[in-house]
Amino acid sequence: MLEVLDHPLITHKLTLMRKKETGTKDFRENLDEIAELMAYEICRDLPVRPIDIETPIGPTTGYELSKEVVIVPILRAGVGLLDGIRRLVPTAKVGFIGMYRDEETLEPHEYFAKFPKGLDEAIVMIVDPMLATGGSACDAISLIKERGAKNIKLICLVGAPEGVKAVTEKHPDVDVYLAALDEKLNEVGYIVPGLGDAGDRIFGTK
Ligand code: PRP
Ligand code: URA
Repeated sequence: MLEVLDHPLITHKLTLMRKKETGTKDFRENLDEIAELMAYEICRDLPVRPIDIETPIGPTTGYELSKEVVIVPILRAGVGLLDGIRRLVPTAKVGFIGMYRDEETLEPHEYFAKFPKGLDEAIVMIVDPMLATGGSACDAISLIKERGAKNIKLICLVGAPEGVKAVTEKHPDVDVYLAALDEKLNEVGYIVPGLGDAGDRIFGTK
């Protein structure tokens, strides 16, 4: 399943991020705000269970989240989406996958993995701003499945059709959420029009 969350506020903030003159501070702040808005939409589906409570007036049935949420940013750039989602789901646990793309071959390389316990019962949200060839996302999903996760959502800001195809073909059970589906990849594997190198723009490394 692919869902493009093209809410006017998300699209407005994403446009600010795309502009080449937008600096690190504004880029990071808009990413953080979009993460929160996307999470609000995506969390509509979270399962709840009934719970008996007492208000000051009397007894009633309320509802509480019935599944643990685990957020897994793909390092580095995925970290930019973490705080915005955690503001909405403050009880979420956090895992990390370190992955970088070889600039020549575009192949992903894993360099770090650390997850909380209970992935098999949790709703796992893998987050990364960019879904380009889809190699990093596909490998991250495979790794998390190997650790037992069964209910996985992939949350990215900007996707290329190539990346969406790769993920939905290899992992048809994973729900994919984007803020925008862009046109294509260029000859060096960057999303067009995209927003450039997300990691470098978040962390000011170029
Ligand atoms: C970027 C991005 C994704 C990946 C997407 O990370 O954040 O993880 O590339 O490309 P793909 O879909 O073709 O695999 P990068 O490898 O630049 O690492 P960084 O986050 O450390 O900058
Ligand atoms: N990684 C990025 O940061 N940007 C792209 O356009 C593609 C991969």
